[in-house]
Amino acid sequence: IQTVAHGDRFHPIARTSVRDNRRRRWTRPRVIRMQVQIVDHPLAAARLTTLRDKTTTNAGFRAALSSLTQMLVYEALKSAKSAVVEIETPLQPYTGSRLECAPLLVPVLRAGLGMVEQAVAMVPEAHVGFVGIARDEETAQPVPYLESLPDDLSGLPVFVLDPMLATGGSMLHTIELLVARNATDITAVCVVAAPEGVAALENSGHPVRLVVASVDDGLDEAAYIVPGLGDAGDRQFGPR
Ligand code: PRP
Ligand code: URA
Repeated sequence: IQTVAHGDRFHPIARTSVRDNRRRRWTRPRVIRMQVQIVDHPLAAARLTTLRDKTTTNAGFRAALSSLTQMLVYEALKSAKSAVVEIETPLQPYTGSRLECAPLLVPVLRAGLGMVEQAVAMVPEAHVGFVGIARDEETAQPVPYLESLPDDLSGLPVFVLDPMLATGGSMLHTIELLVARNATDITAVCVVAAPEGVAALENSGHPVRLVVASVDDGLDEAAYIVPGLGDAGDRQFGPR
């Protein structure tokens, strides 16, 4: 089963159909009322393949994640507002532009740590907050252990960095921390999402959009994304 986004991927109402390969037909498109931006590019696909490959070393995994993060953040900033700035080139005055407001970057530890260096390289003026969550292996429920965020996020765009959106529990917990601090413009920047996680975000009704390299088939009985890439934290840093 393969999930494909149709039409305008940047429109707030994206439609997805699911290809059922056994029956060789498409299911009826489901309307998703959340903005889902799938980064569909040959270079992104190549990095994602390296991440999925079980023979990729820890070092190779970190390098591919960093490289793919550059593409995801680039796309996530496509709709960012610019402010006009007057400068002078060596030849004449010039009206240029800069980001009006750099997003707060919030990596979800551990796996999101592998995205933060590249995201900061893209937006050097960005501030960084941290959230630490470990999923309970038995229940797949999020177990938070760290929160280091500014008190007031009014008017500030926030990019949450976490390679995996599985059940959505960890991302929802993070979003609730942000909304409690008045965030109204939240972007989840992920590598792989399960449809279950996308639905959880959508059903939460929170002001969130998703930028992702792939929406995979679903979750297995241990709530791992399939085909997925395994445990993104362990594959960067080793087992906990
Ligand atoms: C992974 C991943 C997400 C979470 C996704 O972290 O980085 O934070 O699982 O799963 P969910 O959508 O079902 O909540 P994990 O708990 O394995 O911790 P780690 O990053 O420290 O390895
Ligand atoms: N966390 C991961 O790291 N991978 C999954 O597939 C699901 C949760």
